[in-house]
Amino acid sequence: MLSRIRWSTLGLICLSIILFFILTKVLNPFFLPRLAVPLSIIICLCAGTVLLSIILRPAKKQLINMNISQEKYKETTNLLELSKKEMEEKNIMLKQRTETLTTLNRINKAMISTTDLDRILGLILEAVQKDLNFDRTIIFLIENGILGPEKGVGIEAEALEKLAIPMKDKNNFVIKTIIEAKPKIIYSIEEEVLPKCFSESYKNLKPNILAAIPLISKDKVIGLVLVDNTKSQREIEERDIRNLTTFTNQAGLAIDNARLFEMEKNFVEELKRQVDIAKRELEQTQAQLIQSERLSALGEMAAVVAHEVRNPMASIRASAQRISKKIANEDPNKKYTRYIIEESDRLERVVKNILLFSGDSTPQSVDTDMNKLLEDVLYFLQPEIESSQVQLVKMFDESISMLKIDPALIRQVLLNVIQNGLHFMVNRERRDLKVATMQDGTNIIVEISDTGPGIPEENIRKIFDPFFTTKPSGTGLGLAISNRIIEAHKGRIEVQSVLNYGSTFKIILPLS
Ligand SMILES: Nc1ncnc2c1ncn2[C@@H]1O[C@H](COP(=O)(O)OP(=O)(O)OP(=O)(O)O)[C@@H](O)[C@H]1O
Ligand SMILES: [Mg+2]
Repeated sequence: MLSRIRWSTLGLICLSIILFFILTKVLNPFFLPRLAVPLSIIICLCAGTVLLSIILRPAKKQLINMNISQEKYKETTNLLELSKKEMEEKNIMLKQRTETLTTLNRINKAMISTTDLDRILGLILEAVQKDLNFDRTIIFLIENGILGPEKGVGIEAEALEKLAIPMKDKNNFVIKTIIEAKPKIIYSIEEEVLPKCFSESYKNLKPNILAAIPLISKDKVIGLVLVDNTKSQREIEERDIRNLTTFTNQAGLAIDNARLFEMEKNFVEELKRQVDIAKRELEQTQAQLIQSERLSALGEMAAVVAHEVRNPMASIRASAQRISKKIANEDPNKKYTRYIIEESDRLERVVKNILLFSGDSTPQSVDTDMNKLLEDVLYFLQPEIESSQVQLVKMFDESISMLKIDPALIRQVLLNVIQNGLHFMVNRERRDLKVATMQDGTNIIVEISDTGPGIPEENIRKIFDPFFTTKPSGTGLGLAISNRIIEAHKGRIEVQSVLNYGSTFKIILPLS
């Protein structure tokens, strides 16, 4: 087209020049040469213009057409660009949706595979927060007529605790959502009533910022998920709620299952606990029964022994002593009389212990100075301490208060415990006996430590049982009697023992 115009214009110029020459030649005879030239130019220009317009008319038409098609082209390009943008947006949305669905699927799987309620709630919150992008998410569960906040993100624990809503407050939008079992976005603040407890956490609420989605399991609403964008002020869209609902449908079921499992677990645990208690009580009663049977038999036996054995035993001992006096020291028979006397003494001790154990241990309490009582006991045991070559260390706290105790009974206890210490230190390289008194608040404590062989772990629990003994000639009643006496005084005995190092007995007696 352009080359055609170019050639036409060139032709026109040539034609105009030729016409100009012809005209000047033709007009020259009629006009003055001064007039003939401009006239020729004017005629040439007019003719040229007319011819040019004739030549350019199709070009102009084409130009207009071209403009129109260029416009159309532009429009189409714009349209194309718009749809490209739309496509891109849709692509991004699709990608986001796929990502959300993948996450939801992953979380759903994780939820189904666990029965730990706390973990399930954690998974729900993690997913909602991360993938659905809300500022705050709170999970509420219905329990005992209260819609209680179980777990939340984006909210302080203190503020969360305050959000419990009674189910009977039916006029607020939260409970309404539960009753209607349908998700709800708060479009109009004027129309919806917020629960009273929300006033602090949801101040100056704008429309489309808060939404509630019921948690449903087996057609029953078990709770609610509350989401909001109070910080970012991003409006919650129907699309957000759709995404959340696909997810809460699964969550409701998982939460319900976990709760059932927890209830069952608690029930089984409670049952197990009760069975254990019953078993323990049964064992205790059984042990007490055996003990009381043993004790009553022992009581009866003690009376018989006292009558039938103790008196003849005294005569045997007295006779043996008389015979012994008559036998010269160098006589080999002398040692038999000594045996008789020693064994009579031992039997006497057994009988005394049995009588003590089966007898009445009700204390006849009087004000007693514990330090003085201990001094008396140690003085009594002085010969034994010396003969056993035991190093005695006394650490008495002189400031301790007077105790209301039965001195005769407590004397027996101190004797039993100290004599045990002395006995178990025989053959030990180091023989230290430490006796200390102290006051600890409202208790007086007597601490008796020895450097004996110690008590094996498995025996510690048995040493207070009647008849438990590791001594070849022991009755196993010393600590059992002592324990009974101290318990009658509302006190207790504590034992600490380290094998091959020694033992410490703490007698703890209350002041009142
Ligand atoms: N200081 C101690 N060191 C090591 N073992 C001890 C000590 N005191 C008690 N026992 C252990 O506790 C057991 C029970 O002591 P308990 O005083 O009741 O009876 P016993 O001393 O054996 O006999 P009995 O008191 O008739 O002489 C002892 O046989 C011993 O095994
Ligand atoms: Mg003893």
